[in-house]
Amino acid sequence: MSLVPIFFVFLFSSVLAASRECTGPAQIGSTQELDAIRGCQIFDGSITIQNITSSEDLLNLSQLQKVHGDLVINGNADVSQIVLASLQQVDGSLKFQNNRQLKRLDLTQLTAVQSLEISVQPSLDAIQFPSGLSQIETFTVTDTIASKIEGLVAGKMKDIKIANNIYLKDINLNHLQQVGGVISISANSPNLSLDLSSISSIYQGDFRNLARLIGLNQVHQVTGDISFIGNTFSSLALPNMTQIAGTLTVSDNKQLQNLTVPQLQALGGALSVANNTQLTHVEVPKLQQVDGTVDITGNFEKVDLPSLVDVRGGLNVQTSSSNFSCEDVNKLKGGVTKGHEFTCKSNVSNPKSGVSLNNGTDTNHDGTDSGVDNIQVTWISLISIIISLLIK
Ligand SMILES: *[C@@H]1O[C@H](CO)[C@@H](O)[C@H](O)[C@H]1NC(C)=O
Ligand SMILES: *[C@@H]1O[C@H](CO)[C@@H](O)[C@H](O)[C@H]1NC(C)=O
Ligand SMILES: *[C@@H]1O[C@H](CO)[C@@H](O)[C@H](O)[C@H]1NC(C)=O
Ligand SMILES: *[C@@H]1O[C@H](CO)[C@@H](O)[C@H](O)[C@H]1NC(C)=O
Ligand SMILES: *[C@@H]1O[C@H](CO)[C@@H](O)[C@H](O)[C@H]1NC(C)=O
Ligand SMILES: *[C@@H]1O[C@H](CO)[C@@H](O)[C@H](O)[C@H]1NC(C)=O
Ligand SMILES: *[C@@H]1O[C@H](CO)[C@@H](O)[C@H](O)[C@H]1NC(C)=O
Ligand SMILES: *[C@@H]1O[C@H](CO)[C@@H](O)[C@H](O)[C@H]1NC(C)=O
Ligand SMILES: *[C@@H]1O[C@H](CO)[C@@H](O)[C@H](O)[C@H]1NC(C)=O
Repeated sequence: MSLVPIFFVFLFSSVLAASRECTGPAQIGSTQELDAIRGCQIFDGSITIQNITSSEDLLNLSQLQKVHGDLVINGNADVSQIVLASLQQVDGSLKFQNNRQLKRLDLTQLTAVQSLEISVQPSLDAIQFPSGLSQIETFTVTDTIASKIEGLVAGKMKDIKIANNIYLKDINLNHLQQVGGVISISANSPNLSLDLSSISSIYQGDFRNLARLIGLNQVHQVTGDISFIGNTFSSLALPNMTQIAGTLTVSDNKQLQNLTVPQLQALGGALSVANNTQLTHVEVPKLQQVDGTVDITGNFEKVDLPSLVDVRGGLNVQTSSSNFSCEDVNKLKGGVTKGHEFTCKSNVSNPKSGVSLNNGTDTNHDGTDSGVDNIQVTWISLISIIISLLIK
């Protein structure tokens, strides 16, 4: 009888045991289960650490360097520190969700991850990537008490969502050049400063509740919608923007005095300007074509759209100023505007935005829900695009 087969069986089973330890998926709910993977440097597969019952408040996986899968750390109520000090790369998603005591997150070596989500972390006050997080597609930070986000140095990203971080005063994305999806920033600190000074291309953008916005000077085209809502800056300039394929919304910016879009020629959606109470002059000097509707309401004294030759949808201009004359706007009726609806009013106490295509019947909203109005405007532009296609 030979010992060789027994030797192979032994070898095989020990290799299996060693690799099984660092092979996922691993579902971890206790310190003992965590101990089993503590020695792994490279993990093949996904790790989920959820509802861990632990006497310690430290979750230490400081050997781990790479995860070929997802790493999800979720709902660990007592954990106050997560140490992933050697982690360089996660091929899938890295998620920290709902770890309510989490105060310190050590991601010293992290440089590459497909998507990172940090959400509902009500004790986490700093988000830092000391080695520079340079490869990332999707970045989400919501409901934390972080005051800054440091070390996000990617040049190209897909989606970015940063919302409801009420102490967040500074977002530095000055390495970012391209956003292939949606960038959405809202409801962070009212004193938030956003630096996007290298950006040249955005698919879609939603910028809300910002005190300062640095950048957008080089952006030439937007493929989807772009909106600026509830910001407190006094001036908004899109000096190099020539085309927006979707809707441009500028509303509820109570301190906005200057809106400058000197090169904009075409809007695939609507032009929606509402409730910017300090904005006295709306001027889009090169705008020729709007496939959706033109909806401008507020307290302005002057609207200048000297190049406008084609509005596929309707038009609604209403101001509370008594100094405004509808004379110029009325010249657009019929020839330039194709939609059924045409309204121009000055000296109205409560300007109403929202144009409807309901067969010419006026169903103006009373402006209490700008969200609904924006959705409505977007639908209208869609419908009007479809109608104009059908007519062709
Ligand atoms: C974790 O806890 C939540 C709430 O207590 C529960 O709904 C969920 O099923 C738990 N998940 C696991 C994997 O134990
Ligand atoms: C985490 O564990 C490593 C050993 O794996 C140890 O060297 C390190 O000090 C621990 N970190 C903390 C913060 O305790
Ligand atoms: C807001 O931020 C600016 C600098 O970004 C600072 O000078 C100013 O004091 C801050 N204001 C408040 C109220 O925190
Ligand atoms: C404006 O956009 C064009 C075309 O993308 C580009 O060549 C030019 O450098 C941009 N100008 C500025 C000031 O960014
Ligand atoms: C608005 O623009 C004009 C001319 O470009 C400039 O003189 C003025 O300082 C700007 N006002 C604000 C508040 O930025
Ligand atoms: C504006 O409206 C007020 C109240 O409706 C009216 O008294 C006033 O004469 C109007 N002014 C102009 C210039 O039409
Ligand atoms: C109307 O315009 C005149 C001069 O253009 C100005 O003196 C007056 O203050 C303006 N009135 C209002 C209500 O803005
Ligand atoms: C729309 O208006 C046209 C004529 O203006 C009318 O014939 C048609 O019945 C109306 N459609 C609806 C759904 O009201
Ligand atoms: C305009 O601002 C007022 C007061 O803040 C708000 O109640 C209303 O909903 C806003 N309307 C629109 C269309 O944004």
